[in-house]
Amino acid sequence: MAKLIVVTRDGTEHEIEGDTGLTVMENIRDAGFDELLALCGGCCSCATCHVHVEVAVGDLPAMSEDENDLLDSTTDRDDTSRLSCQLPFTDAMDGLKVRIAAED
Ligand code: FES
Repeated sequence: MAKLIVVTRDGTEHEIEGDTGLTVMENIRDAGFDELLALCGGCCSCATCHVHVEVAVGDLPAMSEDENDLLDSTTDRDDTSRLSCQLPFTDAMDGLKVRIAAED
């Protein structure tokens, strides 16, 4: 377990205990944040798990071409954008802070 901070679209920060066996998306979804639709279930084919990494902790994996292409299809993309299903949550990421992106 490690701390994961989730900022919802109204700007509220929520601190949850993240399971390090799951992805960031799975942790957010399992904690009950229904703003993060994650419609494809983590197959990197929907972009509804888009988050902005506000405080990066630990080594985030490099972005794949598929993730990059999908993020290009979103309206809220910036330099902090990632698909949370593509981020395994590890002990080294304790304190990671992500903000749920605007709805497309
Ligand atoms: S859940 Fe669909 S791309 Fe992440």
